[in-house]
Amino acid sequence: MARRRSRSADQHSLRKAHIDSLSHEGKGVARVDGKAVFIEGALPGENVEYLTLRRRKSYDEGRVVSIENSSPQRVAHPKCEVYGVCGGCSLQHLDPKAQIEAKQQVLLDNLERIAKLTPETVLEPITGPVWGYRRKARLGVRYVPKKGGTLVGFRERAKGYLTVMSACEVLDPVIGSRIEMLRALIDGLTSREQIAQIEVAVDDQAAALVFRNLVPLDDRDKHRLIEFGRDNGIQMYQQSGGPETISALWPDTATLEYSLPEYHLRFEFRPTDFVQVNAAINSKMVSLALALLALEKEDRVLDLFCGLGNFSLALASQHVGVVALEADGALIQRAKANAIKNGFTEVDFRVADLYQSDSLAKVLEPDMSKLLLDPPRTGALDVVQQIGSNQFRRIVYVSCNPATLARDAQVLVHQQGYKLASVGVMDMFPHTRHVESIALFTN
Ligand SMILES: C[S@@+](CC[C@H](N)C(=O)[O-])C[C@H]1O[C@@H](n2cnc3c(N)ncnc32)[C@H](O)[C@@H]1O
Repeated sequence: MARRRSRSADQHSLRKAHIDSLSHEGKGVARVDGKAVFIEGALPGENVEYLTLRRRKSYDEGRVVSIENSSPQRVAHPKCEVYGVCGGCSLQHLDPKAQIEAKQQVLLDNLERIAKLTPETVLEPITGPVWGYRRKARLGVRYVPKKGGTLVGFRERAKGYLTVMSACEVLDPVIGSRIEMLRALIDGLTSREQIAQIEVAVDDQAAALVFRNLVPLDDRDKHRLIEFGRDNGIQMYQQSGGPETISALWPDTATLEYSLPEYHLRFEFRPTDFVQVNAAINSKMVSLALALLALEKEDRVLDLFCGLGNFSLALASQHVGVVALEADGALIQRAKANAIKNGFTEVDFRVADLYQSDSLAKVLEPDMSKLLLDPPRTGALDVVQQIGSNQFRRIVYVSCNPATLARDAQVLVHQQGYKLASVGVMDMFPHTRHVESIALFTN
């Protein structure tokens, strides 16, 4: 008992630290009495006082309480009213330029630590708008009378509760500025306690909201949602189960569409389909990927994890052959429809589970000269293990997780004999700790 009390007292006393670097989660890293401490809210170069929140065997976690000398890169007044509470963002206190530099360091550190690799070239980061950029999101919904009624938003950073918020600065403003209105809307529904989530999708012109209702909505609730949609010009959908249960409330038929202007392409998508969250970065990313592939007339490109054809159709527009694979049959249907709409019907879209150790056995052909892959966070280990060293002249790997990119790079370089020619970061998710990157491998 006495031991427990002294440990807790130690935990609640303030300590001093000098911050050496920024962790992969955006926390300040210090060494105190030889032990690593990860301090929320602290930036490199700062001397801070912090409170210990958690003690682990090999490191401690803390929260900054006061700062002796502010970093020149510190943003004194983060834009968001709930920054520090909401778990959506963790870097708003750091200047956006320094954020992307820190993410580049995260990428290089992962490559070095996990794969023992240093790229020949580090590409200039790709940047874009840092506010109101997010066009896809899943908002939690919960009716909590003691917090003023319905809450709509992201989970808190520290606890699992929904944040009490009225706006979101990183969401596209069409929705980000309407969080308070959404709270009031759901508060007025009979089934307010049975709505669990709202899926947000914004396209180049319009926005859509999908309400995940656990029980069927009554006519009054449907009417209110329809009215909200009409008044705000937002497409409204309900979804009671899997993706097949989505139905339109208002208008009866509508589509969402984004474009890649450089390639004169337009993509139709449904509100729950995967699309890249940041339209401006997506356009630049597709162009960079194509440039790194250095396309030639006789190329045949394999596009893995192709989704609804984001890269595939841009590739096809460059008059090269394209075979594109994806696990989600609905996305492949959408990709084929988009190919017809844009006049590139020769793209060979196929459904395939790329997390199988023989997924490429029937796909790989000797004339496939270039590879583009854009896997989920878990990476593409099964894929890279199946690639022969002479199969591709160039491989472009787009990644949303530097750790799995580094793991897969290790296989491509140390087992399959490719060279890591260049890597770069892309500011797809400003203010969050997520790191989007691109890597070029050559043989
Ligand atoms: C990061 S997204 C990229 C989508 C697309 N390249 C784009 O730019 O829009 C990853 C894609 O991998 C797909 N995926 C997830 N698991 C998969 C699997 N086991 N096999 C094939 N594709 C998978 C997802 O459905 C998703 O479309």
